[in-house]
Amino acid sequence: MSKSAILSSSIAKKYWMALTGLFLCLFLVGHLLGNLQLILIDGEDGKRAFNEYAYFMTHNPFIKVLSYVTYISILFHAIDGILLAIQNKKARPVNYQYNNPSANSKLPARQMAVLGSAILIFIVIHMANFWWKMKYSSKQMPLHTYVVYPPQTANPSGDTIYYTTSGMQLPKSAQFEVRDGNKIYISDEWLKNEIAGAKMQGQQIDDKMFENKDKNVEIAEGYKDLHSLVFAFFGHDRAEEGFETNTMPELALILYVLSMVVLSFHLMHGFSSAFQTLGINHRKYTPYIKKFGMAFSILVPLGFAIIPIVIYLTK
Ligand code: HEM
Repeated sequence: MSKSAILSSSIAKKYWMALTGLFLCLFLVGHLLGNLQLILIDGEDGKRAFNEYAYFMTHNPFIKVLSYVTYISILFHAIDGILLAIQNKKARPVNYQYNNPSANSKLPARQMAVLGSAILIFIVIHMANFWWKMKYSSKQMPLHTYVVYPPQTANPSGDTIYYTTSGMQLPKSAQFEVRDGNKIYISDEWLKNEIAGAKMQGQQIDDKMFENKDKNVEIAEGYKDLHSLVFAFFGHDRAEEGFETNTMPELALILYVLSMVVLSFHLMHGFSSAFQTLGINHRKYTPYIKKFGMAFSILVPLGFAIIPIVIYLTK
């Protein structure tokens, strides 16, 4: 390969890194605003707000496309970053005799690949814990339920009701079962028992009437209880909602807070460097871009770090 081709391909890589990096910054803002609901809205209202938001994010076609652009951007950004780091190392296999890198660049600039890899590891662990469990895990994710105390019921502990997208109130009982992610069906088992019971009492029931009815009678759609999943992950007791409490929430907390420190350093260099790569260099505006980049690099990771800290401290 000619020297110029290597040069142009490394410039192309830098361009892609800048574009995907800036897009991921936009993702971070949206993700932070959505997640702040976890600590800014209390109790059942907060749980509803967050689970409705998660439902919207996974069902709106435009957001779905944006999500795929996010996944591709993460992969592109990471792979290009690793390739660039390898290319740079190959281009200068022998260390300079006088090697004083801090004189030429700030620490984050030299360590971008290391910081980026740490963030990638964080993202993989993070997505395995929340995103995977919500979207793909073979284990049925519990749906959002709430307890009501209707005056006419004798049940002193209240009735557990599914929170459904249509507003229909369905008790969490043997009568219903959750399948296919968030769909609530009439339970096959329950229906069979009802029919058998009615027959035993001598009622005339035509089996043909129920031939198709004991399968897939979808009654409503529920909201997956992502709120409880996150709270259980950071140490809250969400056993009643069907989630295992994390026995080592301190570890989760440390992982999140440390990763946000790493993210902050990565952004400090990456943000203004992306503008430079894209050729946005202006005598008047560049100092403002740098200041904005610095504020962004501190405030966004700080906002993210506060969320697990508050959740942990309120357990
Ligand atoms: C306290 C901080 C955070 C919390 C509580 C949190 C929570 C969540 C939850 C509940 C999900 C699954 C639902 C969804 O897709 O929206 C998710 C997805 C995701 N998170 Fe986070 N997150 C945090 C920080 C971060 C950070 C700092 C990054 C990136 C560096 C990140 C990257 C992602 C990605 C890429 C997804 C998949 C998004 C999608 O499917 O569109 N998260 N997060």
